[in-house]
Amino acid sequence: MSLTQIFATRADHMKASEIRELLKLMAQPDIISFAGGIPDPALFPTERFKQAMNAALSDGRHAQSLQYSTSEGDPGLRQWIAGEMGKLGIDCTPANILITSGSQQALDYLGKLFLSPGDTALVGWPTYLGALGAFNAYEPHFDRLDAHANRSAGDYRTTSAGRGGQVKMAYLSVDFANPTGVTLTRDERESILDLGDELGCAVIEDAAYQSLRYDGEPVPPMLALEIARKGSIEDCRTIYCGSFSKTLSPGLRVGWVCAAGPVIAQLVLEKQAGDLHTPTLNQMAVADVAADGFDAHIAGVRAVYKERRDRMLAALERHMPDGAGWTRPEGGMFVWVSLPKGLDGAELLEQAVAQERVAFVPGGAFFADGSGRNSLRLSFSNSAPEDIDTGIERLGRVIRNALVT
Ligand SMILES: Cc1ncc(COP(=O)(O)O)c(C=O)c1O
Repeated sequence: MSLTQIFATRADHMKASEIRELLKLMAQPDIISFAGGIPDPALFPTERFKQAMNAALSDGRHAQSLQYSTSEGDPGLRQWIAGEMGKLGIDCTPANILITSGSQQALDYLGKLFLSPGDTALVGWPTYLGALGAFNAYEPHFDRLDAHANRSAGDYRTTSAGRGGQVKMAYLSVDFANPTGVTLTRDERESILDLGDELGCAVIEDAAYQSLRYDGEPVPPMLALEIARKGSIEDCRTIYCGSFSKTLSPGLRVGWVCAAGPVIAQLVLEKQAGDLHTPTLNQMAVADVAADGFDAHIAGVRAVYKERRDRMLAALERHMPDGAGWTRPEGGMFVWVSLPKGLDGAELLEQAVAQERVAFVPGGAFFADGSGRNSLRLSFSNSAPEDIDTGIERLGRVIRNALVT
């Protein structure tokens, strides 16, 4: 008997992505890869982190930085985050903040908190692949959340009841979404808050890219809009997930949740059971670096990514064939390309890697129902501007070839 036969049923829901093997190919040095979606390491504030880590280990502070700490997180860091939230219109106190090991951990904990097997999570079509992975372990069904579709709460309720559960959450990557680069308008945010109220479900606002705006007007976070409606964070159903991964460093694994007190209290219990706390030294270093020069650092990061975004949009304009469309993100790391029906992103990737040494992520991976195969996600954050020009030219050739064959 193999142990695989006695895995819990939830293991059936944890599927390796069909594109994982293809993505491994992209580590080859001569490939121009738009697949990653990761920060450029040249932009990490490395010197500041050296100083901060050094300080946290000097003058007796090792007794704190190398020690166990509270599950809620570093008090100074929570205080600083609460202040930043306030600037966004989210009136809260450190008691409304839990530090997590990246926002990915927050998604896992929120899945664990709300989803019983058979419940429904509303997600975008497409949505962040990591959110599907995090929620999947809790054996939910997914239904399509579309701010334009005008589906009524009753319709969602009937569908979820037919599948033996209840709509428990609506999950959205709100600003410069992964994978589309699209930002929800204020009206869309308001209408999803209405839907959340009608359904009585949690609204999970994934703000991983929120600080990376290059142009256009900032849109208030959903949690800020809900506080404006209801008067207090304690009456809100929106749960805001933030991250330092895209601004300071993803390797340190520091993110946060901002929500009503009872939600934070329950997540603290999960954190205690899960990993006790996010590494103390990392939290202290992030608190130090964030408190001194954060805005100036982000301004530098934005300037670099903005140039790369502009470069990619201009190259797409030059090289994409008729029939291809793409998003024009105001920030973040991604452009989403839609191709004529019949083209398949996964097949194109094989050809692109073999013939032109260029890579991307096929869009089908981001759809809970496996649709959307005629789309691609391109990331501009970690490519030099010249590589963006060359890579998009190559991609244009691959798509043209596929259209004529
Ligand atoms: C939309 C979105 N949410 C959450 C995450 C997880 O980020 P982290 O756990 O590093 O904070 C990512 C990472 O790429 C993401 O794109």
